[in-house]
Amino acid sequence: MPAITAPRGTQDILPDRSPRWEWILRSHADLAQRSGYALLETPIFEATELFERGTGAGTDVVEKEMYTFRDRGDRSITLRPETTPSAVRAVLQAHLDQETRPVRVRYAGPQFRYDRPQAGRYRQFWQVGVEAIGEHSPGFDVEVVDLAWRYFQSLGIEGISLQLNTLGDLDDRTRYRAALVAYYTPHRQQLCDDCTRRLEINPLRLLDCKRDSGLVAGAPDIAGSLSAPSREFFERVQSGLRGRVPYRLNPRLVRGLDYYAHTTFEVWHESLQGAQNALGGGGRYDGLAAVLGFPSTPGVGYALGVERILHVCETAGLGPNAAQRTAITVISLDAASLNVALGHADQLRGAGREAVVDASDRRLDRRLRNAERSGSRVAVIVGSDEARDGTITVRDLVGRSQTTTPAAALGEHVDAILRKQQSDA
Ligand code: HAM
Repeated sequence: MPAITAPRGTQDILPDRSPRWEWILRSHADLAQRSGYALLETPIFEATELFERGTGAGTDVVEKEMYTFRDRGDRSITLRPETTPSAVRAVLQAHLDQETRPVRVRYAGPQFRYDRPQAGRYRQFWQVGVEAIGEHSPGFDVEVVDLAWRYFQSLGIEGISLQLNTLGDLDDRTRYRAALVAYYTPHRQQLCDDCTRRLEINPLRLLDCKRDSGLVAGAPDIAGSLSAPSREFFERVQSGLRGRVPYRLNPRLVRGLDYYAHTTFEVWHESLQGAQNALGGGGRYDGLAAVLGFPSTPGVGYALGVERILHVCETAGLGPNAAQRTAITVISLDAASLNVALGHADQLRGAGREAVVDASDRRLDRRLRNAERSGSRVAVIVGSDEARDGTITVRDLVGRSQTTTPAAALGEHVDAILRKQQSDA
């Protein structure tokens, strides 16, 4: 029988990579928390309609990439392809916006998109993100873009650029859509199949086409369709960012999701190629709440791809790279002493030290070698004799010497050995 392997487009984060993975998640949670963003957990599956209406029926994500199924109650359920519609739903369903505005939330978790797997593109991938829900002021766009930028700075990632654009409000986009249709219609014969459809349902997405890039270069800019208030809004976003975030204006940045209005942005990394070069993206989505059936409520946020960040950090050697090492291994020599060994390990851990218990039936020399290989620097050996007379054998796995100590002094004794190893190193 062939062994079962992980589904296509998924990956395991094994212990040799997980310290860095955790560091990436923790760094984001810490920074966002210190910036006022509280943790929000939402279900991994939602009613399919949430994404059809929120993310948008004409987007690639909803049209081609969703994991949708009927549950046993015959409801249409979808594994979330992103978390922004869920965050808006959760905040407004609980009326949190009636207490404070904006409601600042952060999240971290798996997302699901049935896309063609390749480097940097998975069918299950993780995002960390924030949403600031309830305020229309450009100051919050600045806050969110600035937070994303500070996060990448805090990880020490170089070679990133922040791409910034505006899509204006609904009226601006209606004008812009008409300008794009007028531009593309005479070239209809040259369009790829996808773009012929996009011309009908979502002309902004024509700007994302890699195949028709010659046409893209000549397409009109959004700037020509912006109203005076929209231009002023974008100017205020830029003036807030100036001197803090070295953004680059990119009038072609339309993003793949339907709900954006005004500010959109992406963080690109020089090492990532093609369509997979974005470490993250976000923007303002003032119309999203209303299409979900809630009172109209503005919002702005971002989501960042954790696998892509991990890849960049691994390549650049950023963050912790060692697999977990536990400094102390407590070895119980026989079944009768296991209980005492577990007690010693608890006592050691209680004082903030790290201890792992080895209760295997293998020979002592093998177990000492195993402890050494896994990175332990001290072995505490507990047998029936030790358990009876209250003394413990402690082996310095670096200096290769062995001593005994009264059980009550175990912690200090181990600390002294670890300190000596450090000063000898
Ligand atoms: P998004 O651009 O679809 O935006 O995704 C954000 C980031 O998630 C991407 O830049 C990328 O790093 C990562 N990502 C997306 N798809 C994949 C994939 N198949 N494999 C690996 N990584 C991927 C959103 O999801 C919006 N919810 C962002 C947002 C928040 N806008 C406002 N608030």
